[in-house]
Amino acid sequence: MSSHPNRQIILVARPNGDPKPSDFEIVERPAPVAGAGQVLVRNTLVSLDPFNRILMGNANSDQAPIELGDTMFGFTVGIIEHSNNAAFSVGDHVTGFLGTTGWQDFAVSDGSDLRIVDPAIVPLSSYLGTLGVTGLTAWVGLTKILDPKPGGTLLVTAAAGAVGSAAAQIGKLRGYRVVGVAGGPEKTRHLIDDLGLDAAADYKADDFEAQLARAVPEGIDTIYENVGASQFPILLPHVNIGAQIAVGGVMSQITTTDGLAGPNRLPEVLRAIFYKDLTVRGFNVTKFYEFYPEFLADVTPAVAEKKILSTTHFIDGLENIPSAFPEMFTGRGAGKMIAKIA
Ligand SMILES: NC(=O)c1ccc[n+]([C@@H]2O[C@H](COP(=O)([O-])OP(=O)(O)OC[C@H]3O[C@@H](n4cnc5c(N)ncnc54)[C@H](OP(=O)(O)O)[C@@H]3O)[C@@H](O)[C@H]2O)c1
Repeated sequence: MSSHPNRQIILVARPNGDPKPSDFEIVERPAPVAGAGQVLVRNTLVSLDPFNRILMGNANSDQAPIELGDTMFGFTVGIIEHSNNAAFSVGDHVTGFLGTTGWQDFAVSDGSDLRIVDPAIVPLSSYLGTLGVTGLTAWVGLTKILDPKPGGTLLVTAAAGAVGSAAAQIGKLRGYRVVGVAGGPEKTRHLIDDLGLDAAADYKADDFEAQLARAVPEGIDTIYENVGASQFPILLPHVNIGAQIAVGGVMSQITTTDGLAGPNRLPEVLRAIFYKDLTVRGFNVTKFYEFYPEFLADVTPAVAEKKILSTTHFIDGLENIPSAFPEMFTGRGAGKMIAKIA
């Protein structure tokens, strides 16, 4: 088997705050060779996620970073280029759903971190978005962490983001009244007009509190929280007794290493948890991978029928990942970020 050149994006510096293109270097090495029982995967799509920033280190996270010089971890979609494993044939489309296939052209695998996917059902990029770990996270939050009351009001923060928009739409399909919080009038318009949410509130607007009050006339029964920012306490007066809150992420804190600005509102958060009898639970989706098949069976038909939509921001070429990835933190979300690398 001939050896292909393999471009790999390696981490060369740990960022302080937002990531920078110079934190990465692209190196070219010979592609690995599939051994007994292994396959060679040629990556075609690479998912860019907030988690990648956490793995670069100097993030507000308990997650151990990768080492300097390591290839960036990342979820991919690829094609089997060579197979010594009876479960995979050359030409099969696969997703590297554990992230081990990474930001590179080629990876070898024993197959345990790969799942065969079918481009005839949905576009391959969906397996990194609404049917990937992004969608799984949203679904786990709604089905395994929260137990929203039928017909009740579900509020999703960062609702125009990749996870938030999936959570909001899955919530709609499950019969909740769904309200999205997002930054800016274009995002709130998108939530209502394109994604079919019942209401939305723009946390960057001067009248955010009034917009929120109008959006949740019967209060909030369930919150899917993605941001972990100062807007959160503003929600609390509207939260109903016995409400449930899933904390699926703290996006605003990932690149903040020097403490959080603003007044300390922890006492009022704790007071609301106590007096309103709230249940608050965080979760890490990696502990819920066993539910992947159940999630796919539940959500794939809705994605195939375009009942769950996703805005995808495609990056062209592996070489452009280092300059595009930082925009996830500075540009504030033009949708699910995916690089087409082949
Ligand atoms: N629990 C898990 O295991 C798990 C798995 C996957 C992802 N996550 C988490 O889920 C959250 C959402 O991920 P995603 O993939 O949906 O990301 P995304 O598509 O980039 O969306 C994140 C959104 O957060 C909002 N935001 C608020 N403060 C921000 C800040 N300081 N910097 C950047 N964005 C900010 C932005 O929307 P606005 O412009 O509307 O503010 C942005 O669109 C992240 O916190 C991520 O770490 C958790």
